Amino acid sequence: MWAPSRHYSENFVLFEPGILARLLLINWPRGEILWFLETLQLHGSICTAKVSRMGANGDEATVDPLWYKDAVIYELHVKTFCDSDGDGMGDFRGLIEKLDYLQELGITAIWLLPFYPSPLRDDGYDIADYFDVNPNFGTLDDFRAFLDAAHQRNLRVITELVINHTSDQNPWFQKSRRAVALAGVDGPGGVRSTSGAAVSTHGDNDDLAYKDFYVWSDTPEKFKDARIIFKDFETSNWAWDPVAKAYYWHRFYSHQPELNFDNPAVHEAVEKVCDFWLGLGVDGLRLDAVPYLYEREDTSCENLPETHDYLRKLRAHVDVRFPNRMLLAEANQWPEDAAAYFGKGDESHMNFHFPLMPRMFMALQMEDRFPIIDILEQTPPIPDNCQWAMFLRNHDELTLEMVTDEERDYMYRVYASDPHARINLGIRRRLAPLLANSRRKIELLNTLLFSMPGTPIIYYGDEIGMGDNFYLGDRNGCRTPMQWSPDRNAGFSRANPQQLYLPVTIDPEYHYEAVNVENQQKNLSSLLWWMRRVIAMRKNFKAFSRGSLEFLYPDNAKVLAFLRRWKNETIVIVVNLSRFAQSAELDLSRFAGYVPMEVFSRNLFRPIRKSRYVITLGPHAYYWFALQAPTDSRRALKKRVAPTIKAPAELEILLGNSQREQIEREILPNYVRTCRWFGSKARTFRHLKVIEQLAISPDADGARLWFVEIDYLDAPAETYAIPVKIVSGEAARSVSQAAPHAIIAHFAGSEGAVLFDAIWDATFRSQLFEAIVQRQSIKGRASDLIGIAGKRLEADYSVASGKSQVLVGEQSNSSMLFDNKFFLKIYRKLEDGVNPDVEITRFLTERVNFPNVPAFVGALEYRHEKSDPTVVCLL
Ligand code: NOJ
Repeated sequence: MWAPSRHYSENFVLFEPGILARLLLINWPRGEILWFLETLQLHGSICTAKVSRMGANGDEATVDPLWYKDAVIYELHVKTFCDSDGDGMGDFRGLIEKLDYLQELGITAIWLLPFYPSPLRDDGYDIADYFDVNPNFGTLDDFRAFLDAAHQRNLRVITELVINHTSDQNPWFQKSRRAVALAGVDGPGGVRSTSGAAVSTHGDNDDLAYKDFYVWSDTPEKFKDARIIFKDFETSNWAWDPVAKAYYWHRFYSHQPELNFDNPAVHEAVEKVCDFWLGLGVDGLRLDAVPYLYEREDTSCENLPETHDYLRKLRAHVDVRFPNRMLLAEANQWPEDAAAYFGKGDESHMNFHFPLMPRMFMALQMEDRFPIIDILEQTPPIPDNCQWAMFLRNHDELTLEMVTDEERDYMYRVYASDPHARINLGIRRRLAPLLANSRRKIELLNTLLFSMPGTPIIYYGDEIGMGDNFYLGDRNGCRTPMQWSPDRNAGFSRANPQQLYLPVTIDPEYHYEAVNVENQQKNLSSLLWWMRRVIAMRKNFKAFSRGSLEFLYPDNAKVLAFLRRWKNETIVIVVNLSRFAQSAELDLSRFAGYVPMEVFSRNLFRPIRKSRYVITLGPHAYYWFALQAPTDSRRALKKRVAPTIKAPAELEILLGNSQREQIEREILPNYVRTCRWFGSKARTFRHLKVIEQLAISPDADGARLWFVEIDYLDAPAETYAIPVKIVSGEAARSVSQAAPHAIIAHFAGSEGAVLFDAIWDATFRSQLFEAIVQRQSIKGRASDLIGIAGKRLEADYSVASGKSQVLVGEQSNSSMLFDNKFFLKIYRKLEDGVNPDVEITRFLTERVNFPNVPAFVGALEYRHEKSDPTVVCLL
């Protein structure tokens, strides 16, 4: 039975049902829920989500090519996340079920660890087949379905391009070793292309085409200056192959032979792999172990010029075929060498900042900002189209390759006193155990992660503070099943617990019965909710993702303070690295007059003056302050003089390129601040945009209905309806007299022509009325206005349409009367979804015939393909 939704009284219809349900479940007071949702910008993000190219059918033109700069990436292995078929291993179908969770967390991209057929002796970084999905995790169709489901949610997908090495089980290696056995290391190889096109052949055995796919040698004495990376497992970079009767080169495990990039057929094979996955619609590729592609005598065999040449070639290949995709290099190097992987903006788009990562931990433990500032000052500037990838933890050990010997000793002492925690040159622990499960420290390091210059990457499970189990060997202790609930197998799988790919964490401090998503979703003070808030807040400010970095140097070295700036945004970040309260004096004199707003509470702190700005911080406390220009709102409150537009007085061309800028940057922002119906006067504008212009009448000089989207620095975006019209001569004079506040602008030299709010125009009012009662359909650029008339429409309405008046004393909306019989309300702030006024009055009128409220006659709805209908007018 049709009935008003019971959500109305709670005003919740706008919000995502999953989150709402959970909030209601835990009985949180309504006011606080709204506050939280607003902070999370859920309304903004759900209602205004723009679909850009994500899948094959998307619209390429709408993609921001720099999307990766604004991303928040979540790293996971499909096997760890959710097991849909009860075999003890996570799979793509399970991952699809958890996409809502990831979307609610606020991340914008998923980085998938390798999921290809593999013996899994290096967790999938040992690939046996580059063109398929490991059957343990599903099928290629499952992967496609996942990609599609992720794109539907505006989540991008980054996969692994592991090209430095393969598994020794890969058919390429099997053929290669047989060919070497046949022809010898220096014997004739095939330079035949793997696509079958014969470039030249030396012998009729098909294996020969693969002979030089790997780096073979008769002696293990070559390339002696290359270090061994997996120190705890390997003693040489050469391994003897009893089939080939020769040595092959490997930088990682001995079962991972290195591909030979001196062989052009390898380039060709890699391009095919790359095209395959990008062709499916993958948005980005992580280039595993990219510094080691080439080998040269008397070098470290890392970062060779040949490697950079190759990377440029690969990038050009991708750019030509797949615009707007992203390459993320894994180059674990010192800052100069790492930055070289950006080239001149023509190698990788992104690269991990490996040297910064351990220094954030170091600074926290030393209670001194020096390690962070020092390494960032050593980091060269990077091309505009490039971005660092920032992370605290990942699937590997916390690597200490990019620190000095003393620093490594220090890190081991303070973060890995138990020798079991050490592996290779690093520490195999998750974030929470590294920080002794201190909530304050976890928040502090995440605050740094989200405010450092780069794109943050969250390792799965760290958002709920999962523990680890280093007794599981290798790096498996950080790869245990995701903890969803206190149920069997942490809600990860229905399998027999003994069948799980790894046991769930039962360490008493991090036991899955206590540390899990379900528990934390119910508790708004949990780490999970904190992460959601901080991610949402970061996304409110482009300064974090694109802005410059400038350190402030207060005398107190325990306090790290820096600015992130982008266009009109300035964020001051202040972090107390100490476990005790601290105070610091910041030199912010150049911002004298500005007011720091603490972004989570929106509290205004005392204004900045020429003198030092004194700040006090509790133990491990942190602040994000958005600096607010002092003038914005006060200026608007002064009496406004309508500005002049130097352009022809024609609505058709008014939003053309030259005037649009003036209208959106200056005229409308100043105008709306003077309007009674505009409720966000105290907020700071980021920008205003006219997103839709609908012609209420076909006449060239008829009114238009503008939908104006306003983005704020300190609040979620809002959309307002402003009907506009241009009149001149006598008509202009009479509007100026009757409603001077409705004048938006004058036109230079056009018989006193004015642009004004069209509710003051009788013709427009009548057209609005007619649009409803005649059930008109008005087409816009990407939307429609639809007139809906109810059952109570009287036949004689036509008389009323011409007799209208505006009701003065407007509040948050504007109202008018027709023939003293019909009341029409224009909603100024537009909200997606069912409108409670419409639904309730319609129900009372049409279903229960309730005589004591004004009857529902009709409404005007704005329908946009990507969101729920929005009611613009109610009659
Ligand atoms: C880097 C990956 O992150 C790591 O997990 C892997 O073992 C090595 N590359 C070798 O593929």
